[in-house]
Amino acid sequence: MKIDDFVLENWLNPACDSVKNKIYLGGSCVLPMTVEELFELTGESMDDFMEELKHMNLGYGNFEGTPRTRKAIANLYKGVEPEEVILVHGGTGANSTVVLTMIEETDNVISIMPNYQQFYSIPKSIGAEVRQIDLKAKAGYKLDLDELRKAVDNNTKAILFTNPNNPTGSLLELEEMQEIIEIAKSVDAWVICDEMYRGLKEEYMPSFADIYDKAIVTCSSSKIYSMAGTRVGWIICHDLETRKELFNRRSYDSICGGVFDEWIFAIALEHADKIFARSRKIVNENKAKIDKWLDGHKYLHQYADSYATTYLIHYDLEVDAEKFCDDLLDKKGVLVCHGDCFFLPHTFRITLSHAHNLEEGLRLIDEYIEELVAQGKAI
Ligand SMILES: Cc1ncc(COP(=O)(O)O)c(C=O)c1O
Repeated sequence: MKIDDFVLENWLNPACDSVKNKIYLGGSCVLPMTVEELFELTGESMDDFMEELKHMNLGYGNFEGTPRTRKAIANLYKGVEPEEVILVHGGTGANSTVVLTMIEETDNVISIMPNYQQFYSIPKSIGAEVRQIDLKAKAGYKLDLDELRKAVDNNTKAILFTNPNNPTGSLLELEEMQEIIEIAKSVDAWVICDEMYRGLKEEYMPSFADIYDKAIVTCSSSKIYSMAGTRVGWIICHDLETRKELFNRRSYDSICGGVFDEWIFAIALEHADKIFARSRKIVNENKAKIDKWLDGHKYLHQYADSYATTYLIHYDLEVDAEKFCDDLLDKKGVLVCHGDCFFLPHTFRITLSHAHNLEEGLRLIDEYIEELVAQGKAI
């Protein structure tokens, strides 16, 4: 099976490895926690945990996933039962399990762009027709529902997208979610939504899993939960027969999850309110600094308020995005993620969530932009 280059991961991950002692503003995970910090934050006893760990059986875990973890995940939704939770390896494992199970060569799928690349390149590699709908900057990266309505037909298997959106952070309101469901229902299609960044609003953020029987949602420990290293991902699916197919596909990939990973993540989830509060604080503080920096900026613009952990920034300079970011890293030691990863030219994604020396990084970006302007690159 031939598949496209995974542009974001193949560019960002090696760049990330080279970033030691530089300023990393490229990522999307909220500042990862240490084990110690997790126990301080949750108030759980580290001693009890260490005692449990000593006696932990290191054989295969529960094939359907650690019951404690599935229960804690179900509690993040309204009307989701623990048996409707499928544990997999990371959000990446969740997305690929879903797409490889659900999509066939004879289907068409709708991909709302920008999207996580698994949601259009895997269907394409299967041979399915991928119909892209672009969120547009000038519309605040909001979905044009009429465009979606026109794009679906009776052969549409699924509508695939991320909400909140990566990299723009734009968010669907509940009414828009309901409209999408109506459109999906009109052609009996699935809604497949990557909800990796759900949870940053103070109030409860509805999930597609709360409101549509033919929704499949994916999420993981990586972003809002700051525990990417645990590699716990999950799929929520209400339909029993489809769930069996998803489990069957998972058997080809991983048999079951890691016992330690699922255990420690359950501890975090049982205190999800505290984890969310920590993440919101980090993101909101960084957001305030970046908003101040962008306010009235001569060369930089940002079009959507972000409910995720990144901003997508447009720049008015005649330099391709990949070169812009490669040179910024080489010359100034600042890593941001280039917009060509999302097929959004003249843009870069900057973190709201993981930033030592954020202000110094922003200053260095300005310095770099001034050098480009001096070279006559301003548009
Ligand atoms: C939208 C989206 N989905 C999935 C993933 C992969 O998540 P994980 O680290 O849990 O595999 C990412 C990671 O950047 C992402 O941004």
